[in-house]
Amino acid sequence: MNISTFRSLPVVLALFLATGSASAAGTNAPVGTAPSATAPVAVKREVLSFDEGWRFHLGDIPFPEIKGHNITYGHAKAGNASGAAAKDYNDTSWRVLNLPHDWAVEGSFDKEANLSQGYRHRGFAWYRKSFRIDPADKGKHLELQIDGVSTHCTVWINGTEVHHNNCGYTGFTVDLTPFARFGNALNTVAVRVDAQEQEGWWYEGAGMYRHTRLLKRPPLHIVTDGVFAQPVKKSKGTWEIPAEVTLENSGKEPAKGSVTMRLLSPDGKEVASGSGKATVPVLGRSVVKFSIPVKNPLLWSPDHPALYKVETSVTSPGGNADQVAFHCGFRTIRFDAEKGFFINDQPLKIQGTCNHMDHAGVGTAVPDSLWDFRIRKLKEMGSNAYRCSHNPPPAEFLDACDRLGMLVMDESRNFNCAPEYMDQMRWMVRRDRNHPSVILWSVFNEEPMQATEQGCEMVRRMSAAVKELDTTRPVTAAMSGGHFAPFNVSQVVDVVGFNYGQAGYDNFHKAHPEIPIMSSEDTSAFMTRGEYVTDKSRNIIASYDDERAPWGATHHDGWKRIAQRPFVAGGFVWTGFDYRGEPTPHTWPSAGSFFGCMDLCGFPKAAFFMHQAHWIKDRPVLEIVPHWNWKGMEGKPVRVMVISNAPKAELFLNGKSLGEKDVDPYAMVSWEVPYEAGVLEAVSSKDGKEMARTKVETTGDGVALELIPDRKEIAGDGRDAVPVTVRVVDAKGRHVPTASPMVSFAVEGPVAQIGLGNGDPNCHEAEKANSHSLFNGLGQAILQSVPGGKGPAVLKVSSPGLKEASLTLNVRGVPAIPFVPAAVADLQISRWKRSACSASRPDVLAPIPDSDMNSWEVVELPSVQKSQSEGWCQMRSEPFHPIERVADKGGIISFEKIVGRAEIWLDGTKVAEKEQATPAPMEIPLPPGAKDHSVTLLFHADASEDLGISGKVLINDRKPPAKK
Ligand code: GAL
Repeated sequence: MNISTFRSLPVVLALFLATGSASAAGTNAPVGTAPSATAPVAVKREVLSFDEGWRFHLGDIPFPEIKGHNITYGHAKAGNASGAAAKDYNDTSWRVLNLPHDWAVEGSFDKEANLSQGYRHRGFAWYRKSFRIDPADKGKHLELQIDGVSTHCTVWINGTEVHHNNCGYTGFTVDLTPFARFGNALNTVAVRVDAQEQEGWWYEGAGMYRHTRLLKRPPLHIVTDGVFAQPVKKSKGTWEIPAEVTLENSGKEPAKGSVTMRLLSPDGKEVASGSGKATVPVLGRSVVKFSIPVKNPLLWSPDHPALYKVETSVTSPGGNADQVAFHCGFRTIRFDAEKGFFINDQPLKIQGTCNHMDHAGVGTAVPDSLWDFRIRKLKEMGSNAYRCSHNPPPAEFLDACDRLGMLVMDESRNFNCAPEYMDQMRWMVRRDRNHPSVILWSVFNEEPMQATEQGCEMVRRMSAAVKELDTTRPVTAAMSGGHFAPFNVSQVVDVVGFNYGQAGYDNFHKAHPEIPIMSSEDTSAFMTRGEYVTDKSRNIIASYDDERAPWGATHHDGWKRIAQRPFVAGGFVWTGFDYRGEPTPHTWPSAGSFFGCMDLCGFPKAAFFMHQAHWIKDRPVLEIVPHWNWKGMEGKPVRVMVISNAPKAELFLNGKSLGEKDVDPYAMVSWEVPYEAGVLEAVSSKDGKEMARTKVETTGDGVALELIPDRKEIAGDGRDAVPVTVRVVDAKGRHVPTASPMVSFAVEGPVAQIGLGNGDPNCHEAEKANSHSLFNGLGQAILQSVPGGKGPAVLKVSSPGLKEASLTLNVRGVPAIPFVPAAVADLQISRWKRSACSASRPDVLAPIPDSDMNSWEVVELPSVQKSQSEGWCQMRSEPFHPIERVADKGGIISFEKIVGRAEIWLDGTKVAEKEQATPAPMEIPLPPGAKDHSVTLLFHADASEDLGISGKVLINDRKPPAKK
């Protein structure tokens, strides 16, 4: 690159704050002005969303080549990052959006892209957010929290590189305190995302796909994830919370803190409390430990997820207080080598699913409320456990598991005991160890080193690191083999995971009767939702549970092997939901998986009902597969599968019995039925007593669309989101399972339609769009409230030839989620150098030699200094490039105030003179032209006179005044 081009020079066209503030959501929340220096106000914790108003640039922006001695010298300094990482980079043309954001899901499918990532391109991108911090926040501890960026990223604050994150599933915090600028000065966070990197063999999304926050806390505060309060049972009815609270002091004096912890029962009453004290050294940490006895708490379990609230606060002199609250649950867990898993001393077979974390329409940027939806769906299937394969989930997901009663196997992404990777795993354990739902820590999935001495050594270290933080949960590893090798990881974990290899259960148990085992992963069977005839030419797989990966098992066989062995604690089916990527056994055009019990939208496949029959014991399950719309198949046999948890089932076609049969509790029961339109009915029974009946009917042609929301009311906080099912019905209102029309979507009122899907793994339609086809009778739209939303919101769907449907949701007004608004940037000349004073008038046109990086002082505005002697001195801007509209039409350079007498030179020509020494604003015209400019102020001063620029130097795109 040529040194004289714009990119190769330090970027000095600054984007600095003017007077307003705004966010992508359009909500303004101006930051207040400096308080007067009166008595200090007590500081309390503030948690502000930082998701709003990011600027986004798809694609990388190469850093300018660093060349020339002065530039190289400057580049090596804190605060001086160049290119798009620079604090004053011109990002005004970038797209404005709110997080969470997954840019990969916005793109199209491409055969040349990686199939494992769902044939979606990922690449690189940049995010930037500029914001102000109130001067009243000076002295507070300021922390930026970024919950997850896919895949790797580098973060700069105000031009200083502050973090590299090398795991797309690990959140991180940045201590903003030392870098923060207050008042009108702008703060900028720049994030370069490298999603070219891949950590998985599944769709990982791309970008800042989890939440971000800014926390303001007193100097003495509780560190992030710094409270450990996991209840432990002591004896019958007696429990204890061994509390551990880590304090940090970013103040300038040692601080005495008093810690209090209150425990509130599910009905909100304080039932126990504890306290402790510590003096925390300057810029140091202290851990306060105390114990809270609790008598006869309500127990947490998947069926009764009773949650207690733990409120922890630390108060310090001056009334400062930091406080944090979360939920905990009282439950014991135990893995028994003979009898499997126990919760609260009751045996519980783990009926789990493995899952990745993308959803139709939204990719990996899943709204928090969709986790509730997905967990509810899994529970509806009879599942009680979820394996976060193969990475830590978002925190909101675990909150939902606590609330809804879903056990969790939490898994670290990277198998590596080097310090950086151990820190990733420690981050997961520290963040997640208070969740009652979490029952297992998994240190890896299917690692080639699982049967080597090196693998064992690595696991030993990782397990020890986990146990330094939490001894209440076992460590496991999902081994795909090697269980019988001389050195293998089963020797160094607490619970041994079997991924597949089900034939090995008995031998392993025989050889190691003292080691608990579970199926960490099984099944890997294939189905396409709503399809009942395999068509290899169209990548379609029938839903009768016949097809599986060579290493896997069918749903029924996989579960049978687990169910029949009490010593196998349970299993995790691969997978609960379909996901993008890994379209095994197919490749292009299939872009999503076929493994799920549900499709990508959460619509059930036959496997969903089979697991209901396997897992649900307290109510009858009865389903018929397939639908009964087989026009053209009259008289030909159609395979009918009745899925039931009762021992017998009888099938009737148009009222005529096709016979009663025994139901195999795993494989279910089937009939070959010559097709005849009408009603197919099944009746299940036990000991001659009818348990349930259900039917499928041949429908007429579709005549209308129908909308079914998961909920009819959502909160108007800009986050709550609801999936809405779209389907076609016939004249009698019956769902037509074979109708797949193209449907248009339109919303009115305080919601946005944020994604569309239909669960077809072969579909290449855009998910961020206003129209989408249904697949086998079903489609889904995700609606999200807009911030400050209140009142009715309407979704309308239409399709040629069908009666349109509309749905009204009630958007409930709720208090806004406090957030940090993005600053409206102005264009400013921010980078200046200042010469020493000389007795004689210097040559304003003489360039600064490239070997001289010390004679001129680099200054930030405002910069007013006293002259040391009578004479001349200069302030010179670094070269700056006008933005397009100024380059096109010209503009005005406005100096907020120039202090002292000065000549103003633009590009080597004197353009104005300030004759009075008193501070005054000045304006000079900037002519049109897309070239670099430079401004010099030549001051002429008496000794000890104030000289400089006070305030900002803005470039306005107002038209320059006409020349007289
Ligand atoms: C397993 C692996 C999963 C998934 C699955 C597909 O070996 O752990 O991530 O790839 O196979 O069958």
